Amino acid sequence: MYLDELFGLTGKVAVVTGGGRGIGQVVAIGLAKAGAKVVILARSNADETLAKIREAGGEAMFISTDVTKEESVDAAMQKIMVTYGSVDVVFNNAGICLHKDTFEATIEEFRNVLDVNLTGEYIVARAAGKIMKENNIKGSIINMASMSGSIVNIPQWQCSYNASKAGVMHMTKSLAIEWADYGIRVNSLSPGYIATPMSVDTPQELKDAWAPLMPLHRMGTPEELIPAVIYLACDASGYTTGSDIIVDGAYSCR
Ligand SMILES: NC(=O)c1ccc[n+]([C@@H]2O[C@H](COP(=O)([O-])OP(=O)(O)OC[C@H]3O[C@@H](n4cnc5c(N)ncnc54)[C@H](O)[C@@H]3O)[C@@H](O)[C@H]2O)c1
Repeated sequence: MYLDELFGLTGKVAVVTGGGRGIGQVVAIGLAKAGAKVVILARSNADETLAKIREAGGEAMFISTDVTKEESVDAAMQKIMVTYGSVDVVFNNAGICLHKDTFEATIEEFRNVLDVNLTGEYIVARAAGKIMKENNIKGSIINMASMSGSIVNIPQWQCSYNASKAGVMHMTKSLAIEWADYGIRVNSLSPGYIATPMSVDTPQELKDAWAPLMPLHRMGTPEELIPAVIYLACDASGYTTGSDIIVDGAYSCR
């Protein structure tokens, strides 16, 4: 009961981008279990996520959205307002990663990673922030950063990804201050290596190289990110804005 009062999300509408699989899917289920009505914005479909949420007794809907397209995101936000009448929480999670030596990666590839990870999160945050401001919603935006926004992963080269996540972290601080007077909170989450399709598909030799660098000797699970997201989403974190929560098993402490 006390935990429900502190951390419950009943009555809140939570938007999750890239929620068709991976971290987005698991966290979307967690938000629904905590009481939120969940809206999945993803490019293809989110049937599995919707089924799992409904199986757990939660409520969810899917809107086909490309986070790099402003019109697509704006239309999704309008649809959410018509359906649920609010946008209280945004888990700005959609992202891509490119492992490529900088001299081999094309400028187009660099731009594409920045376009999804940084500009995409900006487009979603901006569209949601606008709705929150116009409707006087004291919302919470949680941007997906990464430990890669503050450390350089080895041995794989992923300059575009690291740069995009560093950008997300400073964009988060900038929006937190810019929107503080509207009561809109903006924070970021910085996971370490998490076992999802993005990382599980990586070659075994890479995972072997990562293992000795992980103080906990294992990757994290998407489930281990749910509590941090619920904390940032709920009213208990009312004084937390402009923060980055690191969930990386101490990887970045070295
Ligand atoms: N897995 C990790 O180790 C790890 C660590 C730190 C941060 N992250 C971040 O977590 C987030 C989720 O990663 P994941 O591991 O679950 O990856 P994933 O590849 O399993 O999921 C990413 C999702 O984003 C969606 N997406 C990509 N581009 C999109 C677009 N233009 N519009 C809408 N949706 C789009 C994909 O379709 C997919 O559903 C990413 O931002 C990633 O950078 C992951």
